[in-house]
This record gives sequence, structure tokens and C-alpha cells, in this order.
Amino acid sequence: MEEEQMISMPRIGDPAPAFKAVTTQGDINFPADYKGEWVILFSHPADFTPVCTSEFMTFAHMEEQFAKVNCKLVGLSVDGLYSHIAWLRTIKEKIEYRGMKNVEVKFPLIEDITMEVARKYGMIQPSESSTKAVRAVFYVDPKGIIRTIIYYPLSLGRNFDELYRVLIALQTADKFSIATPADWRPGDEVIVPTAGSCGTAKERMEGGGDMKCYDWFFCTRKMDEQTVLDALIKK
Ligand code: BEZ
Repeated sequence: MEEEQMISMPRIGDPAPAFKAVTTQGDINFPADYKGEWVILFSHPADFTPVCTSEFMTFAHMEEQFAKVNCKLVGLSVDGLYSHIAWLRTIKEKIEYRGMKNVEVKFPLIEDITMEVARKYGMIQPSESSTKAVRAVFYVDPKGIIRTIIYYPLSLGRNFDELYRVLIALQTADKFSIATPADWRPGDEVIVPTAGSCGTAKERMEGGGDMKCYDWFFCTRKMDEQTVLDALIKK
């Protein structure tokens, strides 16, 4: 049973496992405190380490950009609160990296010295490390459902263009009932629902308007960047 708990991992479509925790911004009750908002819950291996520092500075730098599309950030590591506070202070006071300086991390960073939360979310992956969380990223939607999970190993810093792209793609898919093709970015064509739900194969192949079919099962339509941004960005 204990072994089973060690490797339990929530899956896409599951409700985000609930927990209460102490953070650098006070106590949180997750995901209840974030009802009605998107939230990215992410873990990092350890405070006072270089890859994590580069990532934290980048997350903090992009916090406003995420907020504009109704998304909050919540970090976690298995370090304690005083370590978190000292590390974030060092980042603000001492580190200048890639043009970022005086970076203040305003989003909550969870202390998880018991590893209770990290275990619940499958962030401890013993073959990589049994004492540190891997770099996990959970996208939780406004209803508290896990919509995407990305894991990176300890040595690999995350790609923040991709983290943001995933959020925008998820929100666009929800808003317009479409799917997004490989490497999609706002302004690119989107994929319309599969045959059967949207006319016959012949009608679809003939398309018309903004619709284009590569075959009966693969149809797209144009969606300009402004349409996407207008729909997602908070006024
Ligand atoms: C880092 O953030 O630099 C790091 C943390 C744990 C293991 C390896 C690298």
C-alpha cells in the first residue's frame, strides 16, 4: 500500500487532488482557492540550485502574462519555508540573469518537507530522485480538473514558450470547441470537429468559407490571432 502511494499519479481529466499547505504567501487550500481560474501547479527539485533559479526568475517575469489569461502560478519543492524565503530573497537582491533583475516572486511557493503533496501528484519519481521532486507541471482548469501534465527531469530547464502555448491552446480549444494541430500558435489554422458532427464527408471536402479539408477526417479553419486574444485576454 505504501509503495502504491509512492507511485500514485493523477491523470489528465482527474480532479486535482486536494491539499492544504503552507506557502511563502500564507496558507492555501488547493484547488478550492483557485475555483474559476486556471492554475499551473509546478514543482522544482531544490531551492538554491541553478536550473531552478533560472526557471523561477522566468516564471516570475511571466507572472503578469499568465494572469492576463486568468492563470495563477503555484510552485512547490520539498524544502522548508525558511529556505524558500531565503532563496527568493537572494534571487531578488543578488541575481541578474538574462536581463532580469530585482525579480520578486509574488506567487506562492509551497513548503512540502513531508513530501505529502509531491507524492500525491507523482512529483517524486524515485528512479530520478527519491529526495527531490522532478520538474512537474500540472494545468488545472477553472473547475479543478487536470488538463495537461508535463514532466521534465532534474537536469532540464523548462521551455516557457511551450508552457504558455499549452495554456493558450487549452483555453482556445475550450472556447471555440476546436483542436489545435502540431506546433499551433494563435493565428494558425485550427482543427474543426471530426466528420459526422459537422456535415457529410463530401460537404466537408468541398468546404467553402474559411474551411479547408486535407482529407475527410482532417479539416481546419482559419482563426486569426486577434480573435484568439480577444477571447482569452482579460479586459
Ligand atoms: C538545478 O536546479 O540546477 C538542479 C537541481 C537538482 C538537480 C540538478 C540540478
